[in-house]
Amino acid sequence: MILDINRAAYDVLAGTYKGTTGVRQENAKKWLTQRLPQLTAGAHPTALDIGCADGTHSRVLSALGYAVTGVDFSTRMIAAARELGQDPTLPNKPVLLHGEFLAGRYVDEAGAGASLDGSLFDLVLATAFVHLFPPEADEDAVRKVLAHVAPGGTALISTTAALSPRQGLEMKAGADGRVTRRWRNHYTLEYFVWLVQEAARDIYGTKVPVQPWVVVDPDSDGKLWIDVVVHRPA
Ligand SMILES: C[S@@+](CC[C@H](N)C(=O)[O-])C[C@H]1O[C@@H](n2cnc3c(N)ncnc32)[C@H](O)[C@@H]1O
Repeated sequence: MILDINRAAYDVLAGTYKGTTGVRQENAKKWLTQRLPQLTAGAHPTALDIGCADGTHSRVLSALGYAVTGVDFSTRMIAAARELGQDPTLPNKPVLLHGEFLAGRYVDEAGAGASLDGSLFDLVLATAFVHLFPPEADEDAVRKVLAHVAPGGTALISTTAALSPRQGLEMKAGADGRVTRRWRNHYTLEYFVWLVQEAARDIYGTKVPVQPWVVVDPDSDGKLWIDVVVHRPA
């Protein structure tokens, strides 16, 4: 139910990303390089971009030589990502799958069914993503994100920071003025780090350090973001 509301919301919000692709790619590249100084294609590493939206992060990682898979459940978002992924200068065309992440069933560009069950990636991104699940599902979402990280690989998960927790359906306006609503959790820094730490311990069978950063969003008045990086033991 909530996921259906969210899917409809992101179909509306897809228009918001139009026209800002270049700037967003530049910002994304800068941000990814800051968080992951070792960001390089190296020995053909693979990346999974969960909730890839219009494919901004997938496009940046692809340009760096990563073999990227992006997933998103919004028809309009995945269509935009597939358009961006057509760039003939990309060394590897991203694989962009349409479907809901928790269900894990996707449709590829050719219309064939695809599954990522058991698929592992050297880098897993889930940016502005896990806070979109209702309370009974967000722990599961974090665990599923971390489960896709290959041994020795890395996850980068981001959300906004709140002084006190709150959650619910929230209004959001797209660039075209259309207003929609989607589910949103606002986590405190302490809770978010704990959530990721506990999920990592469950999935990896051992306690792993979770490195958090809190940063000011340059595009939004006073909004703070929490980024956490988790390395899966080799
Ligand atoms: C706030 S946007 C973030 C986009 C991008 N990761 C970024 O940081 O710019 C969230 C994206 O996740 C997608 N999404 C949300 N819930 C999803 C789900 N359960 N399964 C698949 N995609 C989902 C939405 O369609 C939307 O494109």
